[in-house]
Amino acid sequence: MSREQAIKRIEELTKQLEYHSHKYYIENSPEISDFDFDAMLRELQDLEAQYPDLASPNSPTMRVGSDLTSEFVSAEHRFPMLSLANTYSAEELGEWIDRIIREIGEVEFVAELKFDGTAISLTYENGELLQAITRGDGRRGDDVTRNVRTIRSVPLRLQGEGYPALFEIRGEIIMPYASFDRLNSEREAAGEPLLANPRNAAAGTLKQQSSQVVAHRGLDCTLYNLAGNDLKFETHAESLEAARSWGFKVSEHARVCRTREDVEHFIAHWDTARKTLPYATDGVVIKVNRYADQRTLGSTAKAPRWAVAYKFQAEKALTKITSVDFQVGRTGAITPVANLEPVQLAGTIVKRASIHNADQISALDIRLGDMVYVEKGGEIIPKITGVELSERQADSTPFEYITHCPECGSELVRFEGEAKHYCPNASGCKPQIIGRIEHFVKRKAMDIEGLGGETIELLWQNDMLADISDIYHLNPVTLASLPRLGEKSAANLLEGVRISKEVPFERVLFALGIRFVGETTAKYLATHFRTLDAIAAASAEELAEAEEIGSKIAESIIAYFADEKNRAIIERLREAGLQFEIEEKQQTSNALAGKSVVISGKFEGRSRDDMKALVEEHGGKNLAAVSANVDFIVAGENMGPAKRQKAEKLGVKILSEAEFMALIADTEATPEEPKPQEQTPEPQIDNNPVQGRLF
Ligand code: IVH
Repeated sequence: MSREQAIKRIEELTKQLEYHSHKYYIENSPEISDFDFDAMLRELQDLEAQYPDLASPNSPTMRVGSDLTSEFVSAEHRFPMLSLANTYSAEELGEWIDRIIREIGEVEFVAELKFDGTAISLTYENGELLQAITRGDGRRGDDVTRNVRTIRSVPLRLQGEGYPALFEIRGEIIMPYASFDRLNSEREAAGEPLLANPRNAAAGTLKQQSSQVVAHRGLDCTLYNLAGNDLKFETHAESLEAARSWGFKVSEHARVCRTREDVEHFIAHWDTARKTLPYATDGVVIKVNRYADQRTLGSTAKAPRWAVAYKFQAEKALTKITSVDFQVGRTGAITPVANLEPVQLAGTIVKRASIHNADQISALDIRLGDMVYVEKGGEIIPKITGVELSERQADSTPFEYITHCPECGSELVRFEGEAKHYCPNASGCKPQIIGRIEHFVKRKAMDIEGLGGETIELLWQNDMLADISDIYHLNPVTLASLPRLGEKSAANLLEGVRISKEVPFERVLFALGIRFVGETTAKYLATHFRTLDAIAAASAEELAEAEEIGSKIAESIIAYFADEKNRAIIERLREAGLQFEIEEKQQTSNALAGKSVVISGKFEGRSRDDMKALVEEHGGKNLAAVSANVDFIVAGENMGPAKRQKAEKLGVKILSEAEFMALIADTEATPEEPKPQEQTPEPQIDNNPVQGRLF
C-alpha cells in the first residue's frame, strides 16, 4: 500500500472505529461483532506499525475504551485496569507462549475462560465491600457500588481469614442466559426493545439508576484477578484459591498449564464445551502464573505482557431456511428476513435471521430449503453467513426476489448505488405510515407518551391519523369514544401531544423522519441553519457546508422539501405551534452586534459549532454562505479555496481564529480568582501505576 493510500485508509479506519466504540462503550448498542471490530483495529495497528509517523496520539489503537456516563460519580482505580492483548489465531497464541518460555525459561501458565460481560473492580476494606467501580477508561471508572451490592454472588463481608486489610479484586459482571432470556421475554411483553446479547444486558443493567431494577435482573459476578500491595501469594493460582476461600465466586474451570500443548488442549476442549455453559464466554485468557515472572515481563501502557486473550470464532449453527418474509420499514425500505427451523445458537434458540438485501441473497446464492449457517453479530437478529452446498436439494432453484410491495402491492424501485429495494408508495402503504408516526412520537424524537404502536394503528384504522400532522388535530370527543381507549387514556394522550410542542427544534427535525437525518445529523443541521425554513431553502452546496453533511444527505433533504405533501404536513405542524427554530443562547456581550459572520474550516480546540455559538453569544449572526452582506469570515484550517476567492473578490475581511478570539476576548467577563486546589488525601496504598508491581 502506498503512503497516500495508507493515509486514506487510516483515516477511514479511525472514523469507523470511533463510531463503533461510541456505539459499544457509550450507547451499549454495538452494530458490528467484536470480531469485525478487532479486525479493523488490527488493520489500523498494522498500518501504524508500518508508518509510525502516521500514528496519531488520539488513534483508537491508543485507547483502552471508556464506559463513563454522566449519571454516576467517577472514582479512581487504585491500580489501573488494563485491558488484554488479544488474538484470534492459534498460531499467534503459540508464538506468544514460545516467546514467554524463551524469556522466562521454565514457566507456568493459568488458562481461564474469558467471560463475556462487563469488567468490575471491587475494593474490600477490613473484609467489607467498600466500592465497586467499572473499568471506565482504565484509570477512572463509574462508582456503581449501590448496584453491585444487589448482586448475590458478590460477598458484602468476606469469610475465612488471611485477606489483606485493603485490596481490590477484578472480575466480570455477567448475565447468565437464563436471566437474559427472562429479561427479554419481559421486555417483549411490555413492547420494549430487546437487548442484543448478555454482555450488553449486563453492562446496561449495571448502569441503571435504580438498584431495585438491578436486583431484579439476575446478574452474576465471577472474579479472576487480585490486586494489592501486600499480597502474600507467589502465584496467581494461589490467589484464586484464597479468593474462593474468602467467599468470592471464582471459576472452577481455571487450569495450570505447563506447556504450549496443555494450553492448546484447554482451548480445544472449551471451544466446544463452552456451548453447554449457562453463561456467555468469548474466549480463553492465558496468564503467567508466578508473580515474580509477571513482574519480569511487566506491561505496556495498555496491557500486561504476562497475559493474552485468545478469542473464539463466533459460534455458528447450521439449519434449514423455510421461507423469507419481507418487512417494509418507515422509509419504504424492504428488508428480507429468513424463517429458519429453530436451532440452538450461543445460548438461545434462533428462528429468524436477517439477510440484508437482494444482492446478499444472490451473492450467497441462498435458496429456499437450503441448509444455511447462522451467526450472531452485535445485532439482535442473527445473520446468514453461508450456505452448505453439499446439502442442497437437487431440484432447488435460485431465489426469486419480490418485485411488488408485500403490503400495498406497489411495484418496488431501486435507487442508484443502493442495495435495498423500496416501496415508493409513501403516503398509501400502511407500515410506512405507521412507521413514520411511530418514529415521530418516540422518546428521542417528540416523546409523546400514550401514543404507542397499538394506539397509532387504532387511530389509523379509524381514519383519525393519516400522517404526523394529524396528531395535533385530534378531536378529543371522538378520541375518548374509541373502543379500546377511554377517557383517561385519551386525556393522557392529548396532554402528551400538548407537551410535545415544547420539544426543541433539533428533535423536531429528527422526528420528521427525513431519510439519513438521524439524531446527530439533525443537531448539526439545526445548529448550522438555525431554522427549518433555512434548511428547506438551502441548496445542496449550502447544505453540505454544515458539519457531517455529504451529498447523499443533502439530496435526501432536498427531495423531502420538494415534496408537496411534506410541505403541507410542515405547514400544519407550524400552525400547531411546534418549534421550528433553535432556541437562542443567552448573550454575554455586544461585541459582534449587527455583524454577520461566516465560520469556515477547522479550528484548534473548538468545533465549528462552538465557534458559531460564540458568534451568537456576542450578539453576531451566523451566515452559511459568503456574500456581500458578510462582515467577516473566520477562517480555520483548510477553508475551501472557492470561499476564499469569493471573499477576496467581494472584499470581505478574513480573520484567523486567534484574531477572532482577541476580538471577543476583551468583552468576556473577568474570570474569578482561581480557587485554591483541593487537597487530595494521601492514598492509603501505593497507587503507582507500574503494572509489574501488581500483586
Ligand atoms: S484478566 C490485566 N481474566 O476481558 C488483566 N479478564 O478483553 C485483566 N475478561 O477487561 C483481565 N474474562 O473484562 C481477565 N478470566 C479473565 C477474563 C477477563 C473476561 C475480560 C475483562 C478484560 C477483557 C479484556
